[in-house]
Amino acid sequence: MDAHPLKLKVQSVAAETPFIRSLVFGVEGGAVPQWQAGAHIRVSLPNGGDRPYSLMALPGLPDGTLALGVLREEMSTGGSRFMHALKIGDVVQATAPINNFRLHEGAAPALLFAGGIGVTPILSMAAELTARGISYRMHYAGRVPGRLAFLPQLQAICPKGLSVHYDSDESRLDIAASLADAPTDSHVYACGPAGMIDAVKAGALAQSIPADRIHFELFKAEPPNSSNKPFEVELKSTGQVITVTADQSIIQAFEAAGLDVLYDCQRGDCGICQCGVIAGVPDHRDVILSDDEKASNKVMQICVSRAKSERLVLDL
Ligand code: FES
Repeated sequence: MDAHPLKLKVQSVAAETPFIRSLVFGVEGGAVPQWQAGAHIRVSLPNGGDRPYSLMALPGLPDGTLALGVLREEMSTGGSRFMHALKIGDVVQATAPINNFRLHEGAAPALLFAGGIGVTPILSMAAELTARGISYRMHYAGRVPGRLAFLPQLQAICPKGLSVHYDSDESRLDIAASLADAPTDSHVYACGPAGMIDAVKAGALAQSIPADRIHFELFKAEPPNSSNKPFEVELKSTGQVITVTADQSIIQAFEAAGLDVLYDCQRGDCGICQCGVIAGVPDHRDVILSDDEKASNKVMQICVSRAKSERLVLDL
């Protein structure tokens, strides 16, 4: 089965900030797939890999189109550079929409937190909450004015509930204060850098909002760690031993060894690649496991986590 069945043709490109572009695609040879706020597609890259990008419910989007927002990463390994080079008429292949970051049903109030390019799924959530008539507030944070994309669109979507914060001035986001009067039945959604997500989780828990009402998605992989060391992974079912080099993830090493592995985000925030650990000590680098789960060392996310021991035995 083709992992990237969608054929998308660029219809328009707009510079939203000096580093962020919006891309609107028409779907070639078929209908636009159904998707809901929080969904993403993975766009196939010329090097054989792919990258996830959240689908955006931009106001005024023409019927039959899909929109993405793409940050040009300074340390791009090819994805954002490729996406920023696309021109009208270019065609890319992509997966069908995948959603690991859904809005929950029901009428409970919502608090949305977006950091930087993490705004892309959060904007779609704001649009859907507005359409459903559910009360929410949105906090959108960035370093300095002029670098936050999609502000006019957000002001159109939520003219009353939007607060914008800049690290560079007194508007700086105070997460604890933003959560101070949140009802305990609120749903909290956050997308942005790991530090912001950790602070939102801690702030919401301190406010007695249950963990299953706190939802998040990282927008970016951790930067490569030059202190990574190689280690071995043994598969319990076959006894096969695979070496993971310093510059590989466990998933990359498995794929290089011809194994078929289930994964999605490759950022440690969706849980799809989670594996049981039979022996050895993982070096947990995900944001999905709780501190207790990490300390138990019974499971790990093999897209980002590594090993503290020389060998891991995984329940695979
Ligand atoms: S693929 Fe999402 S947590 Fe590993």
